[in-house]
Amino acid sequence: MSVEEYFNLYKRCVDIESIQFSLEDFKRFQKSKNVKIEKEKNCIAILGLTEREVEIYFIGVAESVRGRGLGKKFLNNIINFSKYYGADFITLEVGMNNIPAKNMYLTFNFIECGLRKGYYRNSSGRREDAIIMKLNLN
Ligand SMILES: CC(C)(COP(=O)(O)OP(=O)(O)OC[C@H]1O[C@@H](n2cnc3c(N)ncnc32)[C@H](O)[C@@H]1OP(=O)(O)O)[C@@H](O)C(=O)NCCC(=O)NCCS
Repeated sequence: MSVEEYFNLYKRCVDIESIQFSLEDFKRFQKSKNVKIEKEKNCIAILGLTEREVEIYFIGVAESVRGRGLGKKFLNNIINFSKYYGADFITLEVGMNNIPAKNMYLTFNFIECGLRKGYYRNSSGRREDAIIMKLNLN
């Protein structure tokens, strides 16, 4: 899959006001040994790989097919990949007001372990706090 195709899938899976990554970022991701882009039909995730830790930079499902269990199935596959990779835990940041994503992580027993004030800035310039969440894999 070309970098443009990955980027187009990302644009279908991200809420446009909270878009964080550009095509240039995707070009860097593809070259990086520490970043893995996972995709399935209508789903994409960007994972940061460090020793014994996987960080989910982004996970999303295309808006037209949300609410049908795809996010849960995809996240479950990412958890399985992270165990296979040898990670001790998965971390991520999620917008304080992003209820669907927060609920999905809680369903998988991620725990809230910190707060980053004003971490996200949406396209209209509004700042939003992020919650740091963690899933222990051991
Ligand atoms: C978060 C996201 C990936 C969930 O994908 P999805 O396919 O809609 O999720 P699922 O249908 O598998 O539902 C998974 C769980 O999420 C939660 N959830 C999903 N939609 C929800 C909603 N509208 N309101 C509240 N909780 C919701 C529920 O806990 C649900 O589990 P349940 O059905 O057992 O109650 C999707 O909403 C998305 O792509 N959002 C935009 C991108 C984003 O914000 N990503 C997170 C970045 S950190």
